[in-house]
Amino acid sequence: MKTEVEEIISEVNPLNFRTEILNLKKDLNAVILAHYYQESEIQDLADFVGDSLELARRAATTSADVIVFAGVHFMAETAKILNPNKLVLLPDLDAGCSLADDCPAPLFKNFREENPEHFTITYINCTAEVKALSDLICTSSNAEKLIRQIPEGKQILFSPDRNLGAYLMKKTGRQMTLWNGSCIVHETFSEKKIINLLLENPGAKLIAHPECEEHILDKAFFIGSTSSLLKYVQQSPNSKFIVATEVGIIHQMKKVCPEKKFIPAPPEANCACNECPHMKKNTLEKLYLCMKNRTPEIILSDEIISKARIPIEKMLQMS
Ligand code: 13P
Ligand code: SF4
Repeated sequence: MKTEVEEIISEVNPLNFRTEILNLKKDLNAVILAHYYQESEIQDLADFVGDSLELARRAATTSADVIVFAGVHFMAETAKILNPNKLVLLPDLDAGCSLADDCPAPLFKNFREENPEHFTITYINCTAEVKALSDLICTSSNAEKLIRQIPEGKQILFSPDRNLGAYLMKKTGRQMTLWNGSCIVHETFSEKKIINLLLENPGAKLIAHPECEEHILDKAFFIGSTSSLLKYVQQSPNSKFIVATEVGIIHQMKKVCPEKKFIPAPPEANCACNECPHMKKNTLEKLYLCMKNRTPEIILSDEIISKARIPIEKMLQMS
């Protein structure tokens, strides 16, 4: 017996998925938003490809009736929170995030209650329920700027990424109480293999996402969000980079700098652990299917939407 995806593949010539998706986009008056960690073929047909902050901004201002989110669950939830009356589709509802999984709302609520005087800044990689319990949301591209706007003397709880939190403490000189979560992809890089690559490639620069561990960040020539890394390789006079983030971003780097060389930072084990298994749950076939069937969609309660919207809108105003 064929699975639903196999049925569709036999129904639609795989080469035509692109055309079919573009036709459905017109019929639905939909916009396709994609994160840099998506498969190249998805990035290439999206209306917009960006980092978490840019995607939230696009979601906040789109005039489309339907938002098709080629990313992970927390990103599609953010789009829904900003557009409660729109249909928000996610090709695979199981496209989660290890950071969001590391921070269940009931435990986060306890954390807040144990620290009632603290201001709560939460990385956008968390569930809508956790957002609803937060004072301010941030992404890796605006976190430093937002922290600097919190009055000196106000104590801060930063969740859920301990690596990003530690990096921000170093950068801003601000003490924060950190939640103990991490990203399975950004904790996979091997320092030893990176050092060997740097020795084998004289002139190559290590660039890294701040979700990486401190011992990797200490060796990085430049640290930034996915969009900042992309901008950096364009502006840099260097022509070779070792890229310590999810490999999907290299597709855009090659597009904007075809003459430069991008080497994915290798993981500790001989595996594809530098690919996010959640992001990669979305495929072209599932994108087609979700648009054809108008499901799976993101559904959130009115209460969660109205509470989670406050710290997200605050972030958009402050960044
Ligand atoms: P940015 O796109 O904000 O750099 O975040 C990376 C990430 O891990 C998204 O899940
Ligand atoms: Fe989450 Fe890490 Fe995947 Fe980003 S790369 S979605 S932080 S698991």
